[in-house]
Amino acid sequence: MTEETLLTPADFIAPLFVVEGDGAPEPIGSMPGVSRLGLRDLVEECRELAALGVPAVALFPKLADGLKDDRGSRALDPDGLVLRAVRAIKDSVPQMVVMTDIALDPYTTHGHDGVLNAAQDDVANDETVEILAKMAVLHARAGVDFVAPSDMMDGRIGAIRKALDGHGCSATAIMAYSAKFASAYYGPFRDAVGSAKAAGTHSLDKRTYQLNPANRREALIEAALDEAEGADVLMVKPAGAYLDIIRDLRERTQRPLAAYQVSGEYAQLHAAAERGWLDLVKTRRESLLAIKRAGADMILTYFAKEMAAELAL
Ligand code: PBG
Repeated sequence: MTEETLLTPADFIAPLFVVEGDGAPEPIGSMPGVSRLGLRDLVEECRELAALGVPAVALFPKLADGLKDDRGSRALDPDGLVLRAVRAIKDSVPQMVVMTDIALDPYTTHGHDGVLNAAQDDVANDETVEILAKMAVLHARAGVDFVAPSDMMDGRIGAIRKALDGHGCSATAIMAYSAKFASAYYGPFRDAVGSAKAAGTHSLDKRTYQLNPANRREALIEAALDEAEGADVLMVKPAGAYLDIIRDLRERTQRPLAAYQVSGEYAQLHAAAERGWLDLVKTRRESLLAIKRAGADMILTYFAKEMAAELAL
């Protein structure tokens, strides 16, 4: 009766990695229990998630290196992997809410979220935004419920909203990665989609467009801009190390608020548990409870399926 915060399977959005073909799932070394899935396994995974009461998935493609170029051209391929994945899920598990990442990093040889400027020392913001808007329309037409721009380019939410509305996709919603920090916790994800390997570096530096982890007020400015430009859901990412930002935003917006418990947050609990230093089942629940208590309405987490199964007991 007095418990203030309750987790339910409906709180979770499961991020899923998708690869070409119907080969065996490809385990991701730095994310124990997480694999890249071919389309058939992806659809089956969605069916199982739906049965457990998880309402939504967020898709991330892993492209073969040969398909990447410095402009991320494949992001605009009308028959691209992620679009086929969306259609396959919507055909078989129509009740599943499908979100797709709008950013160029799985498609670029340098692993950045946009195209680079002439000096190759920063992303070209406005040029990238034009590509992202086209990408969002392709995804909307394939049937996604939410496009999720994760790139942190300035002005992208407004541009995407305008493009969607202008192409008859006014019902497609935008989940904005509004307060996305330039975090070292994304390392395992970059193994999963191959963005770090493509770039030949383990530590991709995205500080010119992602937020400075030191800046709380700036995060609120970014979120307010996204809201004004038409974001339907705002997001804070990573989650665990940024609970203050989640709480700040919860108190300032009436929009639904998402938080992304990222790959490094997942990996660190697994690594400690493997050594017998932490109890995985208890720490994962506590970590998610803290994110919800801070004010998140929905949580992207690689623990979605296991946590939903645990809650069903
Ligand atoms: C990039 C993107 C990243 C994540 C989601 N979309 C990583 C990055 O910014 O390099 C990270 C998710 C995670 O670490 O789980 N568009």
